[in-house]
Amino acid sequence: MLVTSKELLWDAHKNGYAVGAFNTNNLEITHAILRAAQAKRAPVLVQISAGAIRYAGLEFLPMIVAKEAQLVDVPVAIHLDHGPSFELVMQALRVGFTSIMRDASKLPYEQNVAEVRKVVEACHAVGVPVEAEIGRIGGAEEHVVVTDREALMSDPDECVQFVNDGGFDFLAVAIGNAHGFYKGEPKLDFDRLDAIHAKVNVPLVLHGASGIPDYQITKAVQHGISKINIDTEIRYAFATTVRKYLAEHPDQIDPRKILGPAIDAMQAVVEHKIEIFGSAGKA
Ligand code: 13P
Repeated sequence: MLVTSKELLWDAHKNGYAVGAFNTNNLEITHAILRAAQAKRAPVLVQISAGAIRYAGLEFLPMIVAKEAQLVDVPVAIHLDHGPSFELVMQALRVGFTSIMRDASKLPYEQNVAEVRKVVEACHAVGVPVEAEIGRIGGAEEHVVVTDREALMSDPDECVQFVNDGGFDFLAVAIGNAHGFYKGEPKLDFDRLDAIHAKVNVPLVLHGASGIPDYQITKAVQHGISKINIDTEIRYAFATTVRKYLAEHPDQIDPRKILGPAIDAMQAVVEHKIEIFGSAGKA
């Protein structure tokens, strides 16, 4: 069933687990995410980025997610990932997104607050919760390109101020996480996470979770993370499975045969993440 992310993330926040937020770009990824959520009886967010909207069109992805959400009996939210502008947020609301991120984190603090507040006012008017980000999460996001050196971690006191000033619902933190695969093993700053969690009373979000070892994910959940974003590992499963299938079946031209194994491989990735996030059986 289709829900907003508010009830999902507050239940996770209160009960010490995290809800997975998985990026989709197409029908096959959407199937994989929803099948995994259903199989594991887990609440789930399906995320759509500005890049995914550019690729698939504004209406197509939320339409298939909403339809699939009707067909499963676990709660599903449709989330705008890294919303880059007020305009795109409004368009997303119009086509049925039930959860919004407005990412103005590369702007100076006051502008970040102003951008977020504008979106919060509109989204809350129609009952849709908002995620915002403070600090800079490194990596190769589609519209945020920062070098590792530039990537700044979230300051706990500034997080408190940001939550108060911004009036939003969930806070994305930078604690050593980065988008894409990591060079070497990432080291999340758990002391920083503890300080933020102790001071801030909204659900916390971990971006860039692909490639973070399971033991650090488990620890991040124990230390207060309530939403965890995964994109790259799903893409990797998709690409490697299609590549392998085509290498073994060079004459195959049926897209269903080529893409079917990739759906299974992506579903396995999502099911594993759901297990380590602690959200299996929570729906
Ligand atoms: P990864 O691609 O590193 O999994 O990050 C996904 C993400 O944080 C989307 O917002």
